[in-house]
Amino acid sequence: MPVITEIADLKRLYKRRVPKMFYDYAETGSWTEQTFRDNTNDFQEIRLRQRIAVDMANRSTATEMVGQEVAMPLALAPVGLTGMQNADGEIKAARAAEKFGVPFCLSTMSICSIEDVAAHTSKPFWFQVYTLKDDDFMRRLMDRAHAANCSAIVITVDLQVLGQRHKDLKNGLSAPPKLTPASIANMMTKVPWGLEMLQTKRRFFGNIVGHAQGVSDPSSLSSWTAEAFDPSLNWERIKELMDMWGGKVILKGIMEVDDAVKAAELGADAIIVSNHGGRQLDGALSSIRALEPIVKAVGDKTEVWMDSGIRTGQDVLKAVALGAKGTMSGRAWLYGLGAMGEQGVTKALEVIHRELDLSMAFCGRRNIKDVDRDILLVPKGFSGEWG
Ligand code: GLV
Repeated sequence: MPVITEIADLKRLYKRRVPKMFYDYAETGSWTEQTFRDNTNDFQEIRLRQRIAVDMANRSTATEMVGQEVAMPLALAPVGLTGMQNADGEIKAARAAEKFGVPFCLSTMSICSIEDVAAHTSKPFWFQVYTLKDDDFMRRLMDRAHAANCSAIVITVDLQVLGQRHKDLKNGLSAPPKLTPASIANMMTKVPWGLEMLQTKRRFFGNIVGHAQGVSDPSSLSSWTAEAFDPSLNWERIKELMDMWGGKVILKGIMEVDDAVKAAELGADAIIVSNHGGRQLDGALSSIRALEPIVKAVGDKTEVWMDSGIRTGQDVLKAVALGAKGTMSGRAWLYGLGAMGEQGVTKALEVIHRELDLSMAFCGRRNIKDVDRDILLVPKGFSGEWG
């Protein structure tokens, strides 16, 4: 077994192990992928200030996200088709998160169902929903999430329409994978993945197949989104969905101050500054650049978190220093899952935690709650100065 010291190690293994169609699904942005690249590159523009001769014993990265204690300010972001990256992937990731002490958020587009994940974990997890047209289906999803004891719902507010992802269209992405000469040839080179996949029954969208009506091809992400998602979404509908849930609500996919103000007014417990990992509006600003103005506008009214671009503990530290009360990452843990199953997700969390803890110490802070903008050197105009 290779020695894993960084997320890049897991990504290399992941690429080797998982069929191209699913690797491409994770490792894509929309259109030219400019925003997808900016999300990670822009973190590199921010530098950290090293301090010395500060007592660094007894450090802690523990904090709270929507009132929940977390071992570090990082939650596992909802990722569709996770159970295609590694058999029963959502269950494995949820278990790793639970053991590590960070929240796991299950995607509506998961392979393992809400009930499956609840049956194999012992702590409440979060559930992500899209804004769908079918009110009955939305209600049933939320009832199922309540029955599974989910402690918060994450409403994705940036997917009324789906950003075009060239690779997925070219690969004919679906779950289970459509058998074409190219996909069969590729899967034949992924023997351990295939053997594990043959041993599980979970190969379809577990929350959708058999539950949603009026979808002509529930195995295809593009046909499901085109038919089921609500392109006419407005703030009233978002409020209706928040009330339908009646518990803690996190709104994911906010990039503008005006939208953040509206979300805070509606009473969101947290908002996530997110461009959906660069998968929706290509050409949008990176999330880390969009973060600070939103924190300044609404940070005292709701918790502001960010995702899109978080791959290292230093990224988490920089986001927190710019005012994020929490972060989410999808790809970092997905690489671990695809590489090594549950153990790989644990590895990813350990790697990120170590990077966060040590970098925090170098910056002269013992406690994540004491991290502020003073630890950063941020280029002038980083978060503004755009026309
Ligand atoms: C779904 O939300 C996706 O980004 O594929």
